Amino acid sequence: MVTAAHGRAALRAHAFDALTRARTRTLALSDCVEDAELTAQHSPLMSPLVWDMAHIGNQEEQWLLRAVGGRAPLRPEIDSLYDAFEHPRAERPSLPLLPPNEARAYLAKVRGDAFRVLERAQLEGRPLVADGFAFGMIAQHEQQHAETMLITHQLRRGPAALTAPPPPAAPTGTALPQEVLVPGGSFTMGTDDEPWALDNERPAHRRELPAFCIDTLPVSNGAYLRFIEDGGYADPRWWTPAGWDHVRRNGLRAPLFWRQEQGGWWRRRFGVREPVPEAEPVMHVSWYEADAYARWAGRRLPTEAEWEKAARLDPDTGRSRRFPWGGADPEPHHANLGQRHLGPAPVGGYPDGASALGVRQLMGEVWEWTSSDFAPYPGFTAFPYREYSEVFFGPSYKVLRGGCFGTDPVVARATFRNWDHPVRRQIFAGFRTARTPAPEESA
Ligand code: AVJ
Ligand code: FE
Repeated sequence: MVTAAHGRAALRAHAFDALTRARTRTLALSDCVEDAELTAQHSPLMSPLVWDMAHIGNQEEQWLLRAVGGRAPLRPEIDSLYDAFEHPRAERPSLPLLPPNEARAYLAKVRGDAFRVLERAQLEGRPLVADGFAFGMIAQHEQQHAETMLITHQLRRGPAALTAPPPPAAPTGTALPQEVLVPGGSFTMGTDDEPWALDNERPAHRRELPAFCIDTLPVSNGAYLRFIEDGGYADPRWWTPAGWDHVRRNGLRAPLFWRQEQGGWWRRRFGVREPVPEAEPVMHVSWYEADAYARWAGRRLPTEAEWEKAARLDPDTGRSRRFPWGGADPEPHHANLGQRHLGPAPVGGYPDGASALGVRQLMGEVWEWTSSDFAPYPGFTAFPYREYSEVFFGPSYKVLRGGCFGTDPVVARATFRNWDHPVRRQIFAGFRTARTPAPEESA
């Protein structure tokens, strides 16, 4: 964490690094395919990659050049093309989008100017620039779209365009307890301290929760296979009415990208076909599937507050930590973040990332569905624009926590809140389960 207390030069360097890392990733995700693949639509659920590219530049222009730098628009005529609310994703390929070479030039021009704004900006006073907030917000915006582009890569057909080494194996040895008991009582949820935390993570507030038990590890493919083999997709007892309706209508019988062939389950992952690895966290399941699995297992999904308490509470001090492992910024040994690998590590890995209570792999690996609707915290105020969070509050979206293997550390805070519709499966989402203990268990 870098704040005004570290001095203006340190803040500038931190913002510069975050923006530069995001751009390296955006370009890597677009330069690895032919231009024709950048303008194609690989799925109606996604934008063409070239839309994400210019949208990244356009948001940066609006916030860093116009709002912070006070500059006149570079290309006002393109604003509406890259307004996510004006054009749904399915419509975007038919818009007169900037072609790949122009999108690249626009990104480069905006970035060059943004660095000049950064050199001169007062990084204090106005909330938009205090602690470099607008620069951090734009780096996070670009990284969130880089993750969206990674999803498009996963949906794309054809040979692999991305490569990365496999994630580390889980250490062998002592078996972990299946679940962790989190004592009842209040804890601090959300943050006032993280300078680049987004509006929906604020303000910090106390939450009182009864005792609960939560899985030590994310639910694995192997465990999920037992739900499938037990006929879980054909049994309405496990599903909410909306979930049951959804699986029936769409004929769902396994996670997205899975196929049953010659008696075994196979999956497609970034252009590679391979047997489903039982030890990995299950991924590409909807909220409805996560919720049904939990009911089948005699359990339930954790609430968002339970997830955050399990991740952040230090029972010795009663305080909430920045990360499960403490206050240190994420390093590669803590969590599988930042697209260093092209998938989650086997469950039981990353012991250095365990929470104070012993819960593992909360950050990175797979986004974790929670039972909670996306709602504002008490005292929420939209900042700096209503369309980031506020317009999405309500029962249509469920909260996901923790980030995935493709989430950059600039985004992956233990307070960060992601959200999506309960039918969505293309996102890199899995889950863990929870339960309410009997009174004698938590006494
Ligand atoms: C927070 C991931 C749901 O991708 O729709 C990107 C992030 N907001 N541009 C999304 C976002 C505006 C958002 N999610
Ligand atoms: Fe966006």
